[in-house]
Amino acid sequence: MLVPVTEMVKKARAEHYAVAHININNLEWTKAALQTAEELKAPIILGVSEGAGKYMGGFKVVADMVKALEESMGITVPVALHLDHGTYEGAKACIEAGFSSVMFDGSHYPIEENVEKLKELVATCHAKGMSIEAEVGSIGGEEDGVVGQGECADPEECKRIADLGVDILAAGIGNIHGKYPENWAGLSFETLDAIQAKVGDMPLVLHGGSGIPEDMIKKAISLGVAKINVNTECQLAFAAATREYIEAGKDQQGKGYDPRKLLAPGTEAIKATIKEKMELFGCIGKAE
Ligand code: 13P
Repeated sequence: MLVPVTEMVKKARAEHYAVAHININNLEWTKAALQTAEELKAPIILGVSEGAGKYMGGFKVVADMVKALEESMGITVPVALHLDHGTYEGAKACIEAGFSSVMFDGSHYPIEENVEKLKELVATCHAKGMSIEAEVGSIGGEEDGVVGQGECADPEECKRIADLGVDILAAGIGNIHGKYPENWAGLSFETLDAIQAKVGDMPLVLHGGSGIPEDMIKKAISLGVAKINVNTECQLAFAAATREYIEAGKDQQGKGYDPRKLLAPGTEAIKATIKEKMELFGCIGKAE
């Protein structure tokens, strides 16, 4: 059974660790994430962007696949299926499709419109026992073709959005999606501290979790971050392992071209990356 992120992140916030949000892209990715979480007894949030949802055949396909895998793999740890950077329409579609959580990214709307849409989605999600994440200040980098600058959210605006009853809040603190540029200034802990002071116990989300130095991750967790989103690092690990397999000519040996063989090293690499992240985020054993 899929669960909302609410209890997972509340516990993480109180016990000073973060739950891993791992973006999934296909069947192998999903199995890798579920298997790793189960092995490490860690709660997990499976993130699905609108682009990834479309790629996998639609949100209903994704929800049914995740629920069926959870059952067939005998998964016992808490699993949330969460729409990542959802539009208003996308959020409604995921609510219908059987997701357990959505993120409404209304950062491109004027604030009043963002607030109105968010209020409606908060009510709908909570009526269905789902959780909802909102974003304040756009998070830079490229996400499904949308490029933004690393921004810092306004703490007052965070407070206003938090008070609408969202379960988790993503606030820009200089983080960006994708690879961090050489000249990246790092996370703004000043901003994070100011946000935390305004929103109190509200669990915060750190997007763009790939490639952030370990000490910054730990400090962010100590300042209220309870969910960290990771996508790019799994993609890079998958691509590198797959390239190594092909460059070694393994696809041309025996039945090495069989997708079940060809995709295996990449899948193992995703698992290793998720394990590394879970160790760093401190969430191993937290599902017990
Ligand atoms: P990365 O791709 O930088 O890990 O970011 C993932 C993310 O924040 C998804 O919302």
